[in-house]
Amino acid sequence: MNISFRTPLCILLLSIAFSTNLSAQQPERNPFSQNSAVSQSPQGYTKEGVFGHKAMVVSAHPLASQIGAEILRHGGNAFDATVAVQFALAVAFPVAGNIGGGGFIVARMANGKTISLDFREAAPMNASRDMYLDSAGNVVPRLSTFGHKASGVPGTVDAMVQLHKKYGKLPWKALVQPAVDIARHGVFLTVREAEGLNEVREALELYNPGKAYFCKPDKSPWRAGDKLVQEDLANTLERIRDKGRNGFYRGKTAELLVAEMKRGGGYITQQDLDAYSAKWRTPLRGSYRGHNIITMPPPSAGGVGLLQMLTLLEAQPLKEWGVNTEKSAHCMIEIERRVYADRAEYLGDPDFYNVPMKGLLDAQYLRSRMSNYSPEKATPSTEITYGKDVRSFGNTDQTTHFSIVDPAGNVVALTTTLNGGYGSKIVVDGAGFFMNNEMDDFSVKPGAPNMFGAIGGEANAIQPRKRMLSSMTPTIVEKNGNFSFAIGTPGGTTITTSVLQGIINIIDHNMTAQQAVNTKRFHHQYVPDIVRVEQGAFTSEVESALQRKGHTFRSIGTIGKLEIILRRADGSLEGAADPRGDDMAVGF
Ligand code: DON
Repeated sequence: MNISFRTPLCILLLSIAFSTNLSAQQPERNPFSQNSAVSQSPQGYTKEGVFGHKAMVVSAHPLASQIGAEILRHGGNAFDATVAVQFALAVAFPVAGNIGGGGFIVARMANGKTISLDFREAAPMNASRDMYLDSAGNVVPRLSTFGHKASGVPGTVDAMVQLHKKYGKLPWKALVQPAVDIARHGVFLTVREAEGLNEVREALELYNPGKAYFCKPDKSPWRAGDKLVQEDLANTLERIRDKGRNGFYRGKTAELLVAEMKRGGGYITQQDLDAYSAKWRTPLRGSYRGHNIITMPPPSAGGVGLLQMLTLLEAQPLKEWGVNTEKSAHCMIEIERRVYADRAEYLGDPDFYNVPMKGLLDAQYLRSRMSNYSPEKATPSTEITYGKDVRSFGNTDQTTHFSIVDPAGNVVALTTTLNGGYGSKIVVDGAGFFMNNEMDDFSVKPGAPNMFGAIGGEANAIQPRKRMLSSMTPTIVEKNGNFSFAIGTPGGTTITTSVLQGIINIIDHNMTAQQAVNTKRFHHQYVPDIVRVEQGAFTSEVESALQRKGHTFRSIGTIGKLEIILRRADGSLEGAADPRGDDMAVGF
């Protein structure tokens, strides 16, 4: 069967159901699950990986993963599937999947070439440094996080168009059509999605007076199994299907978006939409215990931070210390606080601020950052600042991640977001999609924490058209020059440390992809000076020992939702979807 834009939904969904059954008929057991899931990750979840011989899609929503796998099954490559999954998530996973937001792609072609695409939102041209401060210079609560003023210029649609033009195989229309279909015919809500929409209902009513988006006709609370139909979004997606970039940044969709901005005093104009372009960037490369790490450069802080932490950890006997033990956790926390202190000072959009990449990644510089490290006690963050001599090295619940490997061996790792869950809570009237609240990722005032507690200064100050700093860390790892695994996660500032833990779990602790995902996580980010921890990540003995060293813990529900695709020694693929959400791996 050829998937064309005329493929009726029922055929697509039938074939999805069929293919899901096929995978279910041939279950391959996780070969490590009996001997090591318990011994290696005593405090982890118990979900098992999904295996495939040729291809794999792992995303936050079953329907999106199935749509991506169908595209691959019908001759599409990983880039085609990326477009289809991104648009499907905009419908089926509105909390973070989006056309009103942005993100980052890191990809590796079957021939080993690597690329990255920055589709981070940009500050509108009318934005200014102090736009979220009152006349006394204080941060106005909620201004950068809720409502029309919180949005940056969206990048998602331009990125999908550019990616497809350069690397896609199947017709554009065939890739957008599945999203049109599920928006038009409806998506059945999971428990989490129903709860998410119920939780946000008050804010939706407050910021969208008179609109009925994401509300049941009888206004009763959503329940799992209810069908969410999005007619306006279906029409918007049809315009994108038929006109590509112009279906979003020009014409009716653009008019609706600009009118929405005017209604609420937002900043985005037609000029901003015309000026927006996703940017191809050279991926960052580093190494860790003989593996190549290919990750996202600024304006994400994620890749730089990841490489800094891996460089410092490489000298440590993590394998010997074990997973989430007193020694390994203490060392990781102390490294994290120093790396996040550098981030607060030096990281921002490289097109506007001279990020001292060479110094930040220099091994000698990094070792110097650990000069006041003690294995015996925590260094309070008040005694830590950013590394002073970096310049001497010269100039040189919500986000979502998905990973795709196609039968030819192309790999895509993509992290995308509206920032907070359902973004700014503004739904563009008549167009049916959520706008981001990404402006909060700028440093709205030096030293004032954003919604993730991250601080910053000059490097990440607001300027027109500048892109706000991110933590998103889509990453691909090579072993012996070949693809080994793709990894990424949502989670705000915890993104980088979750990716770090996933990488260490696989490389140092020999875990399967699913074990690496299932293992409970922890996080430190310099300020606030606390270790955020998933309940049960540490045994009570380890936690007490770490407290005696001076660490303070704050238990939070879950940290991140890692999605990993791992190429195993026999060439098969393991897809690991995070049990912390409705995430699903589909492979064949
Ligand atoms: O770009 C960033 O780092 C943030 N806007 C990501 C937000 C996020 O991950 C929220 N989700 N859990």
